[in-house]
Amino acid sequence: PGQSPAEYIKQHIRTVPDWPSPGIQFRDITPLLSNPRVFRVLIDQFVHRYFDLRPSAIAGLDARGFIIGSVLAYELNVGFVPIRKKGKLPFTTVEETYELEYGSATVEMHTDAVKPGDRVLLIDDLIATGGTMMAGMRLLERLGAQVIEGAAIVDLPELGGSQRLRAGGLRVHTLVS
Ligand code: PRP
Ligand code: ADE
Repeated sequence: PGQSPAEYIKQHIRTVPDWPSPGIQFRDITPLLSNPRVFRVLIDQFVHRYFDLRPSAIAGLDARGFIIGSVLAYELNVGFVPIRKKGKLPFTTVEETYELEYGSATVEMHTDAVKPGDRVLLIDDLIATGGTMMAGMRLLERLGAQVIEGAAIVDLPELGGSQRLRAGGLRVHTLVS
C-alpha cells in the first residue's frame, strides 16, 4: 500500500556481495522472476511504456534480456530478436566485442534479424558499464535499424553506463537505480 512499482520491484532484487569476483555487488533479478505478482508488475511497467512508443521489434541481450524481452514482445505483438554471446547463432552474423565490469565479451546477431527502417527496442536486465547495450546498439545500427530506446530493469549509475549510452545518442529507460 502506498508503494510505487519501482519500490516494489527494487525490494525484490537481491544483492550478492563479491560475486562473480571480489568487489562486485551482484544485483540478482531471479527473485523478481519467481514471484508472479512482482513479475507481472515488472512486465506491465514496460508494456505501458512501449504500447505507445510502438517498436516494430524487440532485441534482447543474452541471457537475462531474453526473459523480459520475449514476454514483452509477446504482449506487444511484435517479433523478438536475440543478440547472443559469440558462437551460438547458426546463420551468418555480425559481431561486436566490448569490455564488461568483469572481463570482455563478444555478441552476435543474425544478419537478417532486422531490416533498415525497423524501430527496435533494445532490452536487458541491467546496465553496468553500458558496454553490452552499446554493442547491441552498434549491431542493430550496422544493419540499418533505428534503436528507439535502450531499456533495462536496473541501472547502476555509479558505473556510468547509462550516461555513456546517452552521450552516444541512445535514449535510455530504466525502472530502478
Ligand atoms: C550482465 C547483464 C548485462 C550486462 C551489463 O550480463 O545481464 O547484460 O552484464 O553489464 P555492462 O553494462 O557492463 O555491459 P552477463 O554478461 O553477466 O551475462 P548473462 O546475462 O548471460 O548472465
Ligand atoms: N552485470 C554487470 N555488472 C553486474 C552487477 N553488478 N550485477 C548484476 N549483473 C551485472
